[in-house]
Amino acid sequence: MTPSIPTNLLQQIASTYGTPVYVYHAEKIKQQYETLINAFSVLDIRIFYASKALTNIHIVRYLNSLGCNIDCSSINEVKLALHAGVAPENVLYTSNGISFAEIEEAVEAGVHVNIDSLSNLEKFGKKYGHSYPVGVRLRPNIMAGGNIKISTGHNKSKFGIPVEQIGELEAIVKANNIFIRTLHIHTGSEIKDADVFVKGIEVLFDLIPHFPELEVIDLGGGFKVPYIPGEKTADVASIGQKLKQAFDAHPLANNRKLQVWFEPGKFLVSECGYLVAEVNVLKQNGDTIIAGVNTGLNHLIRPMMYDAYHHITNLSNLNGTEKKYMVTGYICETDTFASDRLLPEIKEGDLLCFHNAGAYGFEMSSNYNSRYRPAEVMVKNGEAILIRKRESFDDLLKNIPA
Ligand code: LLP
Repeated sequence: MTPSIPTNLLQQIASTYGTPVYVYHAEKIKQQYETLINAFSVLDIRIFYASKALTNIHIVRYLNSLGCNIDCSSINEVKLALHAGVAPENVLYTSNGISFAEIEEAVEAGVHVNIDSLSNLEKFGKKYGHSYPVGVRLRPNIMAGGNIKISTGHNKSKFGIPVEQIGELEAIVKANNIFIRTLHIHTGSEIKDADVFVKGIEVLFDLIPHFPELEVIDLGGGFKVPYIPGEKTADVASIGQKLKQAFDAHPLANNRKLQVWFEPGKFLVSECGYLVAEVNVLKQNGDTIIAGVNTGLNHLIRPMMYDAYHHITNLSNLNGTEKKYMVTGYICETDTFASDRLLPEIKEGDLLCFHNAGAYGFEMSSNYNSRYRPAEVMVKNGEAILIRKRESFDDLLKNIPA
């Protein structure tokens, strides 16, 4: 696994903008988007990029320029998408545990909304009746995804309206004459098994008779991408084929000409992103060498939060003799990026590049230990464009009265 951006360009970006720095490769995003469009060409689909993965408006705008719609998980993400110039009819707000006031704001903005609780659905019905087509987020009781923390459709999950409450849901819809356009599920992140999507669509197919005005089935996101070299990932073409077969075997679903929506985050932006950091210190520890870098869980928390593997390339020594390293952050916590990792020999001052940093990397960053959030750079047509400046000391003080 070598970065898709040339090493000398990554080094040049590190020297121009300093480290740590997030770098995103626009052409890789485009390639992933086109892969999805081709994989699902057998269905009537719309792709909504789950912008929570990476909300920088330049990334949102770039995906939108390719024809991609935008999925949001808060009213502020909705506002960012609209600010980026995305038309409201191409914006979707899939909510989770939010106040009704946010739903009202989303309706005023004219975006698609998926409601995830019976109480909000009832409030929605009382206020809007049949006037505003809406979606409901259901919990299908399907276990899926790479880690329990990112598994959202199982029967202990907080997400969505449990599918067994369909009777209560239908009563609210009828009593308030609500126009249910969409049934939504999202079972988890990092799903490699195509059958999970088939199981999900079959749960929703069974509900079609309850919703005469249904137009859309939204299957959420979750397509797995490779993190570890050679790892099995979601075969999106096979998911497309299997979903098409499920439609063909279901005359009611076919007759209703339902559109299928997806909300991929990682698939579109995980692999495009790199976090480039510098090695501050080396320490010998038994037969392992600790390489301490100038970043930590404040900038890339996935290894510590989900035990996620992130591939590391030593940009300063691509092909040297390998040694065993523990790569650690500079935060006052045990922020280990990798243990027992074989890497070409590292010297202090070397640049290390963490792969798969596009999705949920910068986005989950913080100011812990009063460190600045890094700069973000987009590489497009071989040119490096600064899309977010590194924070400065003023940012640490900006909301605090003197
Ligand atoms: N749609 C909904 C309703 C979601 O909740 C999510 C992710 C997605 C779409 C996009 O899922 P993706 O295609 O990116 O797997 N921070 C975790 C992932 C949390 C995902 C939350 N929801 C991580 O870094 O692994």
